Parts: sequence; C-alpha cells; structure tokens
Amino acid sequence: MNLSDCHNVDDFRRLAKQRLPWPVFDYIDGAADDELTKARNTAAFNDVDLVPDVLAGVEHIDPSITIMGRRSALPLILSPTALQRIFHWQGERAIARAAEKFGLWFGISSLATVSIEEIGAMTAGPKLFQLYIHKDKGLNRSLIERCQAAKFDAIALTVDTIVSGKRERCARSGFTSPPRFTPSSALSYAAKPRWALDYLFREKFRLPNLDSHVDQGTGEPISIANYFNTMLDPAMDWKVAEQIRADWGGTFCLKGIMSAADARRAVAMGVDAIMISNHGGRQLDGSRAPFDALPEIVDAVGGQIEIISDGGVRRGTHVLKALAAGASCASGGRLYLYALAAAGQAGVERALALLKDEIERGMKLMGVKSVTELNRDRLRWR
Ligand code: FNR
Ligand code: LAC
Repeated sequence: MNLSDCHNVDDFRRLAKQRLPWPVFDYIDGAADDELTKARNTAAFNDVDLVPDVLAGVEHIDPSITIMGRRSALPLILSPTALQRIFHWQGERAIARAAEKFGLWFGISSLATVSIEEIGAMTAGPKLFQLYIHKDKGLNRSLIERCQAAKFDAIALTVDTIVSGKRERCARSGFTSPPRFTPSSALSYAAKPRWALDYLFREKFRLPNLDSHVDQGTGEPISIANYFNTMLDPAMDWKVAEQIRADWGGTFCLKGIMSAADARRAVAMGVDAIMISNHGGRQLDGSRAPFDALPEIVDAVGGQIEIISDGGVRRGTHVLKALAAGASCASGGRLYLYALAAAGQAGVERALALLKDEIERGMKLMGVKSVTELNRDRLRWR
C-alpha cells in the first residue's frame, strides 16, 4: 500500500499500521479500557441523516469560518497531539506547514517534540498551545510566558486528564516517551526498518517545552499514564483555570468540557471557546460522545461561547453534521495523525485535501453555499 492508495482517513490508518512499530501505532489508535467511547465518537455520526435541499445553485460555496478570532478556510481544527516525532521524523513541523497551506488552526501539545518558539516562528497561521497544568508551577508559568513571547493565538487548557485513562494497549506494549528499546520491544521496532532508521539517525527526540523543568518523558522514559499520574496537578479546579486565563490574557479555550453545567461555568468565567471532547476516548471509557452531547450543550450555551466538537471525525460529512447540530467548528487528532505517521507532511496534506473535498462536496449536495446555513433542520436523528 502507498500514499496514492489512500482515499480516506481509514486508508491512512491502514498505511500507518503497515509502517509503524505496533507499540507506536497502538499509542495513536488505542484508547481507554474497552475503547467503547472511541468507537462511539465516530459511530454517533451514523445515527443522524443529512437532509439535502436541491436546486440551490451552489456553483460558488464558502466553507470558511471565523473561530477564536481567526479566519479558518474550513470548519475544522487540527487538535493538539503529543509526541509526534515518534510517529514520523517530520512531526509537528509537518502539521504546522500543512495547516498553514490549508488555512487551518492547529495545536501543539505540552508534550510536543518541537518548541513553542520554533512553531511560533514557522507559521503566521492560527495556532494554539495545549496546556497541561503540572505540579511544577514554575513550569506552568514558563509555558504561558513562552506562548506570549511566541505570539500564539490561543491557549487550550486540557481539563479531562486529571488522572490518566487506562490505556491497556500501552500497558501491554510497554510504550513510553521516549520509546524504551527492551529485549521484548526491540523486535517490534526493528521490524520497521524505515521507522527505526529515521528514529535513530534523524533529530534526537526531546520534549523541548518541558525539559527545562522535568526529565521525565525526555531523558527518563515514562508511560503517558505515569506521566499524567505523577507530573500533572490533580488539584486543578475552576479557580486554577481562572488564574491561568488571567495569567495568559489571550484567547482561552477549555478542552474536554462534556456537561452543560460545565459549559455554563465556562461562559460565566468568560472563556472564549470550549472543546466538547472526551480526548478521543483515551480517558473515561463509557463517557458520552461529543456529537451525542452537542445538542444539549448547544441548547445550554449556544451563541454565548464558541463550541468546538472534538473527536470521532473521519469524514467531511461528520464536520457538516457537527455544524448542523450547532457546533461552531469541528476538530480532530487521528484524522491527521494516521496520515502523518504514514507519510509525513505529504500524507497530512493529502488527508486535508481529501477532507476539504469531502466538506465541499457535502455542502454542494446539501444545497448550502455557506456553512452558516447548516442547522438542525438539515438533520434527522434516526
Ligand atoms: C491526543 N490528544 C491529546 N489531547 C491533549 O489535550 N493533549 C495531548 O497531548 C494529546 N495527545 C494525543 C495523542 C494522540 C496519539 C491522540 C490520538 C490524541 C487528544 C486530541 O487532542 C483529540 O482530543 C482527540 O484526538 C480527538 O479524537 P480523534 O479526532 O482522534 O478521534
Ligand atoms: C494522550 C495524551 C498525551 O492522549 O494527551 O496520549
């Protein structure tokens, strides 16, 4: 299978599986416990049908939106995901370049493998920094100050990882950051020579936004579960979030809101946007899918705060369904991560081109010239 054989996100998943050591693939593809929520995140879109209008004259359409104060060519944000150097040597640089080429927001994780400064200097496109609140308060301050200096457009505070989800695939594989080559795991890495050579002989892996303060994850291999459970601050609460928002002073998003009550609290706090998200099913298995939660949250706070539906998106029509259900925008991680892992920047650009094509085709077949025309009248729940 090659890049030219990839015609949708699932094809990229298969190519990534073919090219990655299985512990790395399982880190991307895996989720918590029985992975029921990850599956529902995508299946939820299948419980809703689109109702097209015809003869609408859709020669010229405009899929663009404004979200968190910046124009976006599509109603789709590339969600922040960690450790990208492990998936492909081009890592976050590939995402930044592809996002800029397609005019999209992208985010880098606190556990990114490229520095805030480099990403800030690389692209004038809309970019967010995803913040994990660490026990080390000096580190939290340093991350915010570095984002201010690098002129990031937003900070997204992740609020659904107060402890790690139970990532059983990673427990089985022994996946760590950085990867630990043990006698049992070495074979899985050696079995993918192209990946192994890139990992061993290209730029050394590091977590440049964290390693000024912590050794775990860069120098000292650690599982993500242990990183979360030992390094992140379990005392994080609304007061801490309010302080972070004040310290940052810029556009502020809460990532991982799943209840109407919390959405109301975010509005009351003056938050600019919320990402309705269960972390791609990687945290609380059995929690609701963002698309299932969307109508209730839109009814509670629609029009008072920007609502980003995050997770499960694998098709352009999923984006259209999320907007029709009331989201301001959709976002996703695996929808570009499989492509990165499979083929670097060229893979991500192909994936984004496919999703752009699906969004535009879907709009034309729906009879809408602008995504602002999408509303619940265009959906029927089965
Ligand atoms: C993530 N996600 C994530 N979220 C976050 O706030 N900080 C992070 O560092 C990461 N890292 C990460 C790594 C990998 C491999 C995955 C798959 C996901 C969650 C991500 O931002 C997003 O919420 C989910 O990926 C959405 O689900 P889909 O689109 O992958 O189905
Ligand atoms: C994950 C963390 C890094 O989901 O957010 O793997």
